[in-house]
Amino acid sequence: MLIIGCSGSRELARKVAKKLHAEYSNLIVEKFPDNEIKIRLPRDVANRKVVLIQSFYGSINDKLIELLFAAHTARELGAKKLILVAPYLAYFRQDKRFKERESISANIVAKFLAVFDKILVVDPHLHRIKRLKKLADFFAKGIRLSAVKEIANYIKKLKLGDCVIIGPDEESKQWAGGVAKLLRKKVVLLLKKRLGSRKVKISALKADIKGKNAIIVDDIISTGRTMLDVVKKVKAAKAKEIFCIAIHGIFAEGALKKIQKYAKVISCNTIPSKVARIDVSGVIADALKRC
Ligand code: R5P
Repeated sequence: MLIIGCSGSRELARKVAKKLHAEYSNLIVEKFPDNEIKIRLPRDVANRKVVLIQSFYGSINDKLIELLFAAHTARELGAKKLILVAPYLAYFRQDKRFKERESISANIVAKFLAVFDKILVVDPHLHRIKRLKKLADFFAKGIRLSAVKEIANYIKKLKLGDCVIIGPDEESKQWAGGVAKLLRKKVVLLLKKRLGSRKVKISALKADIKGKNAIIVDDIISTGRTMLDVVKKVKAAKAKEIFCIAIHGIFAEGALKKIQKYAKVISCNTIPSKVARIDVSGVIADALKRC
């Protein structure tokens, strides 16, 4: 097995390779003055099982093109099996035509990735579409991995005693509810209405959390509007310590600093950042052993 770290996942890819004692190399990516890119595979791939690891944050469209160039090149050069590991796969929130004539981007991205034999995605944002394979036929080859256990283990180590787990919206049940179940704690789920890409309305927090440690768990922090709204409600309810835990910490538009004014923020290392303290390399390595 040859593991290749694309530009969005080098550190995590290296960790995965180390856990598997597999050969590892960075993908070679060159950017031209006109913003075109060119990739070069770092090793000979003929007749090998090749794993490309790429996460989508920052210049996500560049990262997508880079991945597709690498995948098609590996195919042309005779890779025996081509596996994608996407610690964070973007575009999954665009899973329906919210307005007429809009693209259903999740489906289209899924089709782009048809070049792979297998696709491993860490906690994809499956909301209206509940299962990976419903996104596009080829996603029958998709495997959904989850960081919920890793998050629960991380919280256990904090030894917080009395605490309540909060999910900002209904779909966060799969993450907040999952963590609460593993920790045998209570979960409080709020309701969210999205009014725009930077505007959300979240229902009132009715539970009594006074004096308790509050841990808000969601899959994604992007602009941070969701977390900020919840965090302010939790603070007003006089919680003791407040933690915000996301699987994918995108932290667009200075979101991290804004939330840190109220709470401790932690994310998984599906997207690198200074608060990416929960390691998912073990989850990925274990899944790759079965591929
Ligand atoms: C969507 O419902 C997700 O689960 C997150 O709650 C959402 O993506 C967070 O976005 P933002 O940080 O921009 O509010």
